[in-house]
Amino acid sequence: RQRKPLVVANWKMNGNSELVQQMSEALSVLKQPLPDILICPPVIFLADFPKHPNYKLGAQNLSEQLVGAFTGEISADMLCASGASSVIVGHSERRALYGEQDSVISQKVKVAIEAGLTPILCVGETLAQREEEKTLQVLARQLDAVYAAQPHLLAHSVVSYEPVWAIGTGRTATPEQAQQVHQFMRQHLAQYDAEAANELRIIYGGSVTAANCEALFAEADIDGALIGGASLKVADFSAICTMA
Ligand code: G3H
Repeated sequence: RQRKPLVVANWKMNGNSELVQQMSEALSVLKQPLPDILICPPVIFLADFPKHPNYKLGAQNLSEQLVGAFTGEISADMLCASGASSVIVGHSERRALYGEQDSVISQKVKVAIEAGLTPILCVGETLAQREEEKTLQVLARQLDAVYAAQPHLLAHSVVSYEPVWAIGTGRTATPEQAQQVHQFMRQHLAQYDAEAANELRIIYGGSVTAANCEALFAEADIDGALIGGASLKVADFSAICTMA
């Protein structure tokens, strides 16, 4: 494979110190070769994770501001100082529940990269948009909002395709559906930087489990997974990592 697989755990607002300990122990005993493994717990737990070469840590969100009077926000520099190497940006829950628009997401990607964090940019269509056959149009808009004005950021990013209708629903995209979208996005991004688009890791998220991940990973343009629910189960998440 030309692109090293990446498996990301998004704990969302779940987990506790016990899960940190159990997960870090389980991942530490996995044998190489492994994919790149990234755990994104609530930021309060970042410092609790023992350092280990089998995994890295990330955050689920960051402020688009650098420093100052922004109550409740956490800056990119603070995430770096807490041990994060990456950050999820523009997750559909942030877009839908916290009103994050393309413009602020674009700014967050830029701020993350400038601080040395790898942004994992989440894009995806809703069920209504898919049924109206607007999927590719929506994805192009979400990608263009970030990369049209700042194509140099592509080489430092990861993109995650997360169809909103597949998140937490148990209803996953079929490998063929996901592959079609991943291939479209890679081709679309090639207009900005062909080499970076070819090297870009595009991962899939949406009800990924130990039972369905292998078929997804077998597709040519699916370079890993962003996992919610199954990332809270130590045995399932470890199994997914060994299959990537
Ligand atoms: O970030 C993860 C995605 O939202 C997928 O969540 O695996 O629970 O469907 P899920």
